[in-house]
Formats: sequence, structure tokens, C-alpha cells
Amino acid sequence: MIFNISKTQTTLIILRFMDKLVIRGGNPLQGDVKISGAKNAVLPIMASSLLVDGITVIRNVPDLRDTKTFIKLLEILGAKCVLDGSTLSVDASDINSLEAPYDLVKTMRASFYVMGPLLGRFGETKVSLPGGCAWGPRPVDYHLKGFEKLGASIDLNQGYILARTDKLCGAEISFEIASVGATANILMAAVLADGATFINNAAVEPHIVQLCEVLIDMGAIIDGVGTHKLKIEGVSKLNPVEVQVIPDMIEAGTFLMAGATLGDIKLIDVDPSHLNIVLEKLDNVGCDLSLGDNSISIKQNNSILASDITTDVHPGFPTDLQAQWIALMSVADGTSVVTETIYLDRFSHVPELVRLGANITLENNIAIVRGQKSLTGAQVMSTDIRASASLVIAALIADGRSDISRIYHIDRGYEKIEEKFKLLGADITREKE
Ligand code: UD1
Repeated sequence: MIFNISKTQTTLIILRFMDKLVIRGGNPLQGDVKISGAKNAVLPIMASSLLVDGITVIRNVPDLRDTKTFIKLLEILGAKCVLDGSTLSVDASDINSLEAPYDLVKTMRASFYVMGPLLGRFGETKVSLPGGCAWGPRPVDYHLKGFEKLGASIDLNQGYILARTDKLCGAEISFEIASVGATANILMAAVLADGATFINNAAVEPHIVQLCEVLIDMGAIIDGVGTHKLKIEGVSKLNPVEVQVIPDMIEAGTFLMAGATLGDIKLIDVDPSHLNIVLEKLDNVGCDLSLGDNSISIKQNNSILASDITTDVHPGFPTDLQAQWIALMSVADGTSVVTETIYLDRFSHVPELVRLGANITLENNIAIVRGQKSLTGAQVMSTDIRASASLVIAALIADGRSDISRIYHIDRGYEKIEEKFKLLGADITREKE
């Protein structure tokens, strides 16, 4: 197979780099907000389409920079993609390149997800080492050690990982931390391997459960779905499927935290069971919550009490909601301690929240948040997807005008965030910088 080294077309995105959000805080939030499909579910599902000779149909695809980037990546590999509203068809019958180029991988770490399926189906792949969010060291050693255990040779050359195998063979693979990305990547490689693969300490996030279900639908044999021990019995071929992407629990959590200080809002098309610990915490700090099968209503109830959290793998408090929790605690009654255990220095939002008047001190992986009576609008800067979301929440609470620059980060992971908040009554506009 010949590697395609042609230039990618990322220029489309450049104009969006110049956008900022202008928010005038203090408006109450009221009404319904529809939650989109989950970014962290759709990306591995899009990668899994590479396993199949035929057309995979994916519904409820969120309109995000990351999904557009992933479509570009699939097209570079030779897949034919048709996006019609929120339905994406991927025809991976004629894959003609096995290379994921730096231009794309550097903008989205999840591009690394193509490695498992390409290695499993074609026995070869060349993938740039990932970039992605700018917090801390984010190694991919579990992925690479896992592929090696499955019988692939791994070489690093000029920033690219080259993986090759005559045929992957089942093996026992154990992760020190229950990594979402490594679990997904090894799963997608192991489904077409010879024999049985065991993944010990597998991730159990809802998006991993959905990936397992999609692979099983395609014809894969996987036991232990939703537990930390997966057994994958390799098969020789997988079949095309139709998939409905699960709701985005992180987008939902973000709206809940905005609703907690300002609102009386109802989230629709959401799965409350994905958010148990977050709902428990919001209940503890004094929010009125009511749950339906696919909805969550939240109402501001007097002042918000301070409460500590420690991030953890699912079903613990998600690291992807840590920044938004800090924004909420910035106006809580009392002091809260927020401990980050997944990405120890994931605190780039803290100096920006301080610019908005929050009182936060950092001690290694612990943020101490002293709740203030109010915040004040300011110019701030997005630094990653979830950090940006915390700035939106804080700016919605703050008195006066805030300008949030570099919002291309937020566009990676939130579908039309300003339109959704505007519908709830927020004073928020997207402007050119
Ligand atoms: C995914 C999510 C991200 C979320 C994170 C944790 C996607 C596209 N991204 O990222 O939004 O913040 O899960 O829920 O789904 N680790 C290693 N070596 C590895 C892999 C991971 O040491 O090879 C460590 C990481 O440094 C981290 C921990 O494992 O401390 C968990 O990381 P992981 O679950 O892999 O995160 P991602 O899949 O990158």
C-alpha cells in the first residue's frame, strides 16, 4: 500500500480562528436546550468505519470542528464521506492510503484512533504522533505497547509512528490507568486479530460502551462490555451498520452548571444515567433537579453551596467537567477544593477565571476556590475545549461585558454553543476579533 503524502486542506478552518464570543453577563437562563451527539463517542465510531468494506451510517453526528477534521482524515485515507445534516455515511471500501498526516493529527489528538482499525484491517499504518489539547504530557505509550503485544512492530521516524504486522494475534493487555483512547484503539485492532485478546483495566466511559456495542453490531465478539475486563474474540470480517450516537454527557454537564447559577432550564435528548455523580454533586450544592427518561431540568435554588470534587475515571467526576465546576464554585457560598487526578496540570482556565474576578489558588494538582459574591466581565482567552466552556459559564455569571478570544477551541467540542445559550436568553454573540 502506498502512503499518501499530499497536503491536507485545513485552510477552511483558519477564518474561524479569528472569532470571539462577546457575552454580557447576568441574564437569567430559561427554556429547553437540545443536547447534541457526543464528540467523544462519534470520533471512535467514525474510526471504526475503517474496519468495514461497505457503508457505515452514523446518525446524530454533532457539527463540530473535530468531526469535520475527522471527515477530512477519513477522506485522505480514501473513504468516501457524505454528510447530510447530522447523518454521516462513510464508505471505506476503497482505502488507498494508510497515513494520517501531521497537519491533521496535530489539530486533533483523536486522529490517533485510525491506527487500531488500519492496523487490524490492512496490517500497516503510519500515523503522526498526536497533538490536541494543550494540557500536560499526554502519552500514547499504552496504545503502542498494546499494538506491540498484538504482534505489530512499532517504529518512530520523523514524528511518525510506523506500525506493521503480517497478522495481529490476540494477547493479554493491561493498562495502568483505564485509558479511554487506548481501550478504543486496542479494541478496534483486536476485533480482526487471530484469537482472543483480553484488556485488563479497560475504560468504562459511556462512549467506550457504545463503541463496543457498535463493534458487536458489526459482527465482533466482545464479552464484558461496561466492565474493566474485556475479552475480544477476533473475527475475519465485519459488516456495515447504522449507528445513533449517544448524547454528549460533557455538553450536558456544561449546560447543567450554567443552569445551576442562572437558570430554570431543561436539557432534552440527554441520558441522565451518564451523569450520576454530577447530578449528585449539583443536588448537594443546592440545585433543584428533576429527571425524565431523556431529560434533566435544573433550577437555581438560592445560593450555591461550596463542595469539593476529585476527578476520576467513569463513573467518577469527569475531568472534562472540572473546569466548568471551578467556574460554578467561583460564585459558591464558601471554599471548595478541586483535585485533578487524570491530567495533573489541566488548569489553564484558572488564570483566565481569575481575570474575571474568581479567587482561585493552585497547589500542584489541587485548585482551592474561594467563592465570591460576583464576578466581573473581562477580556479572556480560550486555551482548550473545556477551559473555554468554563469561561463561557463564568462570563454568563459576571457583571458586564466579557470578550472570549480564540474560540476555535470551543468549536472543536461544542455545537453552536452561542446559539444554544442565546435561545436560553443569554446575551452572547460571535464576532470577529
Ligand atoms: C479522552 C477524551 C478526553 C478526556 C479523557 C479522560 C476523547 C477524544 N478524549 O482522552 O476528552 O479528557 O479521555 O476522560 O475521548 N495515559 C497514558 N498513556 C497512554 C494513554 C493514556 O499514560 O497511552 C494516561 C493519560 O496521561 C491520562 C490517563 O491515562 O493520565 C487517561 O487518559 P485517556 O483516558 O487515554 O485520555 P484520552 O483518551 O486521551
